[in-house]
Amino acid sequence: MILVTGGTGLVGAHLLYFLAKSEKKIRAIYRDEKSIKKTEEVFSYYTKDASLLTKIEWFKADITDVPAMIPAFIGIKQLYHCAALISFDAKDYKEMRKVNIHGTAIVVNLAIDAKIDKICFVSSIASIGNSLKGDLITEENEWNKEADNSWYSITKFGAEMEIWRASQEGVKVVVVNPGVILGSGLFATGSGKIISKIYKGFNFYTEGVTGFVGVKDVVKAMILLMDSDIKNERFILVSENKSFKDVFFLIADAFQKKRPSFKIKPYQTAILWRVSWLLSKITNSATVFSKYAAKSGHSVSKYSSKKIEESLGFKFETINDVVNRACKNYTKFLE
Ligand SMILES: NC(=O)c1ccc[n+]([C@@H]2O[C@H](COP(=O)([O-])OP(=O)(O)OC[C@H]3O[C@@H](n4cnc5c(N)ncnc54)[C@H](OP(=O)(O)O)[C@@H]3O)[C@@H](O)[C@H]2O)c1
Repeated sequence: MILVTGGTGLVGAHLLYFLAKSEKKIRAIYRDEKSIKKTEEVFSYYTKDASLLTKIEWFKADITDVPAMIPAFIGIKQLYHCAALISFDAKDYKEMRKVNIHGTAIVVNLAIDAKIDKICFVSSIASIGNSLKGDLITEENEWNKEADNSWYSITKFGAEMEIWRASQEGVKVVVVNPGVILGSGLFATGSGKIISKIYKGFNFYTEGVTGFVGVKDVVKAMILLMDSDIKNERFILVSENKSFKDVFFLIADAFQKKRPSFKIKPYQTAILWRVSWLLSKITNSATVFSKYAAKSGHSVSKYSSKKIEESLGFKFETINDVVNRACKNYTKFLE
């Protein structure tokens, strides 16, 4: 049997669809019944056949709750660990450490105890070191703890360290490091917000560059890696390195809406995040725009997916195709 954490998130829900379709026996962790609706929404973009959802055995637990998680591992041979907290807000740092690092340590300990065969962990390009001379970033780029890393990056790197510990204890592991994930579903949160915001007329863009990938490619690569003989390796999953400007324009074009027209310059984001930080201190609320969101909007980081392409003969969908499908499904979602 397969255990999936984060099955009510963007990646986990798409993963559950492909696992359910291939008739695998699946158990998925959830925290709240309402969240299962997100998985149902994702399934609805693939099929009208609701019976596929019945193939999932839902198991209620928080990954940081050891007693609740112990029974989830009974009879498990493979684990896909997708659950995480994603935030650029300093206020979430403590919670991110708890969920992403401590939660992963718990999942790893239970996987070792249950003698499971293999773990596939969803890490991020955020936990890969940057390139000093502007070369393409590969899996070999080492994490630089002295760099000004975001709180999210720090916790994803910490989580990856826990996963490598599992490999030291004899559990096979594969780690994927996706870029910004675009796809259908969960349009109100996380990377799904990029689509809904542009639809609603978001009028700003920056010219920073990063790696983008479609969610379908992420989960297909995860399943292929899990079912392969490959072990104890990490793989960057990036279809294309693109500027935020280009991706925002692609989305606006797909909706046949006006392209964002206001280019934000680095000095403007530098003012914005400081004002936002100050307001959050005064009002004791979350920052609307954080320092690291500002930084990522302008930095240029380009990634190589050569390793997965050569190891599995993997071919990525273009970001244009990913965006067009996601925008069509968002329009359907609004109807
Ligand atoms: N989205 C991206 O652009 C991106 C890029 C690179 C890497 N990643 C990585 O990909 C993975 C999946 O991301 P995503 O976009 O699918 O995120 P998401 O949509 O925010 O989903 C997060 C999932 O984790 C679950 N979760 C959070 N805290 C939990 C806890 N304490 N116990 C149990 N479950 C918990 C959530 O459950 P609830 O439904 O109950 O909240 C949800 O199912 C993450 O590891 C993320 O770091 C994402």
